[in-house]
Amino acid sequence: MPSGTQRPYVVAHVAVSADGATTGFQPDVARFYQLAQTWKEDLTLTGADTILAQEPALATAELPGPAPDGPLLAVVDGRGRVGRWEALSRAGHWSGVVALHCRDTPPRPPGRPVRELVTGAGRVDLDDALRTLGRDDGVGVVRVDSGGALIGALLGAGLVDEISLLVHPCLAGERATRHWYGAAPAAGLALVAAQSLPGELVWLRYHPR
Ligand SMILES: NC(=O)c1ccc[n+]([C@@H]2O[C@H](COP(=O)([O-])OP(=O)(O)OC[C@H]3O[C@@H](n4cnc5c(N)ncnc54)[C@H](OP(=O)(O)O)[C@@H]3O)[C@@H](O)[C@H]2O)c1
Repeated sequence: MPSGTQRPYVVAHVAVSADGATTGFQPDVARFYQLAQTWKEDLTLTGADTILAQEPALATAELPGPAPDGPLLAVVDGRGRVGRWEALSRAGHWSGVVALHCRDTPPRPPGRPVRELVTGAGRVDLDDALRTLGRDDGVGVVRVDSGGALIGALLGAGLVDEISLLVHPCLAGERATRHWYGAAPAAGLALVAAQSLPGELVWLRYHPR
């Protein structure tokens, strides 16, 4: 990758309980996706575990086909665990789908209905993947859809420009299996917006300093 290739703007938009969980409570999905339109992302970036959690629903969902005006979907799948690529591409949300693999990803069946981008050795090189998608697909804005692990990896690598938390008025407690997390930059987070919304929701937006 030539140095100087610009990385897209990356925002992690996540629905959380008041105790920071991303699972174990019922999020306001309609509000979550309404707010997600704020950034008009060129690419939705998600992790294999987020997709695997949706696979049962995908198996029975109506699949209208690709959305020509929708964003691209890129799925980090370093271990080659995702199977329903055809269903993802036809889910009606995305214009196309890219599987992000690394050199250690197990061999894939030939003729899979998904484009591949291979970068990194033991794990997907997230920085290189973002820059490559920026250069080759004109991706300028990325919205991360993650239950925590992918946000943590991106934050740890300094690859997040904005964190958006839709805070729900509940405690997930022991029902939670995931929390959002990440290595904060030394200077912490700068609050750029805090808004109360109907349903006792609070929308918080931060920039890593
Ligand atoms: N509340 C919300 O807004 C929200 C949003 C999305 C999902 N969810 C829920 O969250 C759960 C899934 O979240 P999760 O935290 O388990 O997984 P995740 O956010 O989907 O992240 C897992 C992905 O991150 C990759 N990864 C982790 N560390 C990495 C690193 N250092 N370098 C490169 N790649 C790295 C993993 O790679 P490998 O492929 O190599 O393992 C895996 O593909 C599901 O239950 C889902 O329903 C909630």
